[in-house]
Amino acid sequence: MLDVFIDAGPATPVTPISAGILSAWIETASPAHAAWAKAQGFKAKAGETLALPNTEGAIERVLFGLGDESDPFIYGGLAGKLQPGDYVFDPTPEDASVALLGFALGTYAFNRYKSGSKDDAPKVRMVVPTGVDCHDVSRIARGIFLGRDLINTPAADMGPADLEAAAEKLHHRFDARLSVTTGDDLLRDNYPMVHAVGRASDRAPRLIDLTWGRSDAPKITLVGKGVCFDTGGLNLKPGNFMALMKKDMGGAAAALGLAQMIMERGLDVRLRVLIGAVENSVAGNAFRPSDILQSRKGLTVEIGNTDAEGRLVLGDALAEADTETPELLVDFATLTGAARVALGPELPPFFTKDEALAAELEDAATTAHDPVWRLPLWAPYDSWLDSKIADVNHISDGPFAGCITAALFLNRFVTETASYVHFDIYGWNAKPRPGRPVGGDIQAVRALYHLLTKRYG
Ligand code: BES
Ligand code: MN
Ligand code: ZN
Repeated sequence: MLDVFIDAGPATPVTPISAGILSAWIETASPAHAAWAKAQGFKAKAGETLALPNTEGAIERVLFGLGDESDPFIYGGLAGKLQPGDYVFDPTPEDASVALLGFALGTYAFNRYKSGSKDDAPKVRMVVPTGVDCHDVSRIARGIFLGRDLINTPAADMGPADLEAAAEKLHHRFDARLSVTTGDDLLRDNYPMVHAVGRASDRAPRLIDLTWGRSDAPKITLVGKGVCFDTGGLNLKPGNFMALMKKDMGGAAAALGLAQMIMERGLDVRLRVLIGAVENSVAGNAFRPSDILQSRKGLTVEIGNTDAEGRLVLGDALAEADTETPELLVDFATLTGAARVALGPELPPFFTKDEALAAELEDAATTAHDPVWRLPLWAPYDSWLDSKIADVNHISDGPFAGCITAALFLNRFVTETASYVHFDIYGWNAKPRPGRPVGGDIQAVRALYHLLTKRYG
């Protein structure tokens, strides 16, 4: 269990109050507390706290405003508002598991590079409400924290080898099998597009392949875009577009975070994680616009823009995943700016031909409060990828439907697997929200975890 949770013990009560029930609470409160709340102007606005003193002036209870109760992760703002100490919900929030997860996610801090005393002991702890599976809540939070840490770490310290090290950690912890193909071995082992994208960096590209679980259990394969830094390559990004590109391995971070949740939970699946870990750099040996790449699938791919590198790395990884025809194939990728134009940073689109999976996912996303939105693999746009001199173009030449054409490109590499879904994630919180501080974030993973535990738990 996370160290911000405790089983019991003396703790200060925290009373959640929505704006709608504030006047009712004031009527039942002691005259002193009612007067104090009024005098302090407490309105039960979302995230507002008020400490109620006892006659000695010590904190007897804390009020926590829920506003109109529209944000399920409102409890993510709680830890930051409380004085150090132990707390207990009184009464227990309606959806106590979500409240506790929100609280846990709000305790995340990325302090690897903060000098001075790194006091790791949690300052605020919460008693686990009865009936809440605190181990599952902890497992979900730890998976998210792992992913956030990977994204937040600057590219100088999170290169392809560091992503490999993250996979290696999981391999040791869960007794998984790990195989990594690095540098020119990618050519020998037929991952030509992973090699082409990553070869200009002096940090060698690699294909990370982790498997775990009973070999005859249902096969679940997660593929992650692990572009540790995306300069755009020879089609160099302007500075302001490059600024955040340490997060371009957000898909790999999501896959590793979800993999950790699955293995910690011990789901009865045969899990495989495939990560194309590369740095999209500029050098004399960089791949070029107009180059034609070989691919693992056998298709020749004409390069229109070296900044559309993610789909190349994924194409080879997906082709390998597809040879096993897993029961479910998922990829996560910070793939296109177009997905952000379409739906904004907080709502990742997903693409699948599997109608039943789409419905299952929408359901899981709602339950897990982890929103995603289906966009179409619009077949008529597939011809936009036609090339005059190669089997396929990796981008279309117009400005339209960029996330759809990217998804259609990926689908060229998955021809045997019936149930395949691609998530185009943003992987970043630009404005702080409760439980989601500014920085790396892991999207769509809680929805998938919910789906998988429902299926295989
Ligand atoms: N990693 C980027 C996509 C991206 C940019 C995601 C910003 C999230 C925020 C990707 O490799 C890329 O550069 N895509 C290009 C593709 C284009 C050249 C066809 C894009 O979306 O502009
Ligand atoms: Mn790019
Ligand atoms: Zn990229």
